[in-house]
Amino acid sequence: MAAAVPVAVAALLATAGPAAAGPVHGGPAAHRATAGAPGAGDPYFPLAGNGGYHVSHYGLTLRYDPRTRHLDGTAVLTARATQALSRFDLDLKGLKVTAVTVDHAKAGYRRAGQELVVTPRTALRKGHDFRVTVTYSGTPEPATDPDGSADGWIPTDDGAFVAGEPQGAMTWFPANNHPLDKASYDFTLTVPRGDTAVANGVFLGSRTAGARTTFRWRQSEPMAAYLATATVGRFQVQQYTTRDGVKVYNAVDPREAKAAAPVLKQLPSVLEWESRLFGPYPFRAAGAIVDHAPGVGYALETQSRPLYDSAPDLATLVHESAHQWFGDSVSLTRWQDIWLNEGFATYAEWLWTEQHGGSSAQQEFDALYARPASDGLWAFAPGDPGSGANIFATPVYARGAMTLHELRKAVGDPAFFRVLRAWASAHRDGHGTTAQFIALAERISGRNLDGLFHTWLLTGGKPAAP
Ligand code: TRP
Ligand code: ZN
Repeated sequence: MAAAVPVAVAALLATAGPAAAGPVHGGPAAHRATAGAPGAGDPYFPLAGNGGYHVSHYGLTLRYDPRTRHLDGTAVLTARATQALSRFDLDLKGLKVTAVTVDHAKAGYRRAGQELVVTPRTALRKGHDFRVTVTYSGTPEPATDPDGSADGWIPTDDGAFVAGEPQGAMTWFPANNHPLDKASYDFTLTVPRGDTAVANGVFLGSRTAGARTTFRWRQSEPMAAYLATATVGRFQVQQYTTRDGVKVYNAVDPREAKAAAPVLKQLPSVLEWESRLFGPYPFRAAGAIVDHAPGVGYALETQSRPLYDSAPDLATLVHESAHQWFGDSVSLTRWQDIWLNEGFATYAEWLWTEQHGGSSAQQEFDALYARPASDGLWAFAPGDPGSGANIFATPVYARGAMTLHELRKAVGDPAFFRVLRAWASAHRDGHGTTAQFIALAERISGRNLDGLFHTWLLTGGKPAAP
């Protein structure tokens, strides 16, 4: 990602010059070095992510005390410069930065809103692999999304509910905070003894020393920053390995345990059923975090281990599990394409019901289609929500799923399910765009589907009867 720096941001950059400029040594290649862009070029969230480098790994060492709400963090990012860089940005909101090094040398830094502007002592050559260490601390605070919901580090009565979609990762660690840039993660999380800290991926073990316990986690498959979690609380823990060799770790707030138990028991069969439909489960770890976080109002498909604000119902478990294929393993390149996540996860719920003795997807479709043209369902086209304020609105979920149902009717079940599996496998651990999805559906079905997608995905208002 490069060039697409919005005009306002470019202007901001120009005026930001003097404070940020540091001495730049490093010879002829480096003297053409320029500043990395402050955003990844996503019009919905112009400052999300950054230009000029890619991160391959985050090593996050955090210590959190739920009683004081104080966080101490060290983030070590392994990255590669994609241009000659005089300086670059990370995304970090709030907290206090106390030191930044680049390749072990002290670097200059300053804060500008959600941008942490880092000026290495010497410019970085294009292609150079470098390591950034940021030491920080403070009281993390949630971010408020354009739709008014909170995300990021959300304190609870016994810890923190940590959910980063779409913006919240920057409330607790410095990141290249856009799904375009995926990386592996190691987490070392220290909390008061008796509390549990749960992150993504495989649980590597815990150690108690004195009044504190440290939990280690490894997410080895690439992950977008918004899918990272480090949720803290009093949890009942359950661990087992599935028949497919997936390591399951569930953490459940005791207040939710009774309601959660019958649903969590179905996790292995849900993952098996989805593996049959969508192809092999994409990660080596799985599980659930069931928190007691009244007021949050949503669940999140945190990678390998979805995060629920209360005991989920089965439909929600199916939904967040389906995201492991659609949204997590296959990531967005821009937030406008959010229907590739939410439309697919919603359609998975319809398929589950259809194949387990409930209403058919056609019946779900018909019930939605019966809504009058004035209904919010038709407020905008799911493939074009228009702004970050609409990315979690009904058209994205429901009409996104209706679009997939239209596709299924047009190409027939065998081709439709081949498309879903091919999508998950071709883009596994990577990214996919709406245009690529349409092209894949056309290739597999041998049909021209432009009209269908144009009508259902890209045109506002209620489509004429199908
Ligand atoms: N992606 C989540 C889901 O549908 C929902 C979600 C995440 C959300 N963050 C949000 C909804 C913020 C509203 C606001 O599984
Ligand atoms: Zn979802």
